[in-house]
Amino acid sequence: MSYRLLAFASGRGSNLQAIQLSIERGDLDAHIALIICNDEKAGVIPIFRDKGIEVRVVPHVGKTRQEHENKVLETIKDVQFDLVILGGYMRILSPEFIQSLSKPILNIHPSLLPAFPGLHAQKQALDYGVKYSGCTVHLVNEIVDGGKILGQKVVPVLENDSEGSLSARILEQEHILFSEVLNEIITNKILL
Ligand code: GRF
Repeated sequence: MSYRLLAFASGRGSNLQAIQLSIERGDLDAHIALIICNDEKAGVIPIFRDKGIEVRVVPHVGKTRQEHENKVLETIKDVQFDLVILGGYMRILSPEFIQSLSKPILNIHPSLLPAFPGLHAQKQALDYGVKYSGCTVHLVNEIVDGGKILGQKVVPVLENDSEGSLSARILEQEHILFSEVLNEIITNKILL
């Protein structure tokens, strides 16, 4: 049975697009059941609506974390899903929310965790002067970017890299890694 993905995004959604492409190519036995977005101006919204994939917007502005999360839970209560994927969802999930979703939650982060968690991971890597960085898909728990690592890809950091050039090199690998990890879960190569 096709895996039902509940996706969260806040921005352009290129990782979700890469996953959707894998699905369309027949490489992933899954479908995106719904996307939740917290920013009504996010680029991800028209891209997926044009494909006929439902996006529900739940703005966080003016709400406490708890109010926003409660609203999200109310918004998804009619939706069946097997797995939650965060594709650039710029919100920290409370432990209560994680528990309420009651399905595994995957996040993608643009560094080789546990190095450089949090915001601006690519800039952190450049500032530190590491020679290699990359991306990580991990399970979400109550520690930000701290859950079990499920997959990683390495890229070199080049002498004249800017934050933009390094981010672009990492993003290319993110687009491959997220689908690979999802496929390993769906085909039971990774047991959650
Ligand atoms: C990616 O770099 C991801 O690692 C981070 O947020 C960014 C989202 O990009 N968590 P996109 O919206 O998937 O294009």
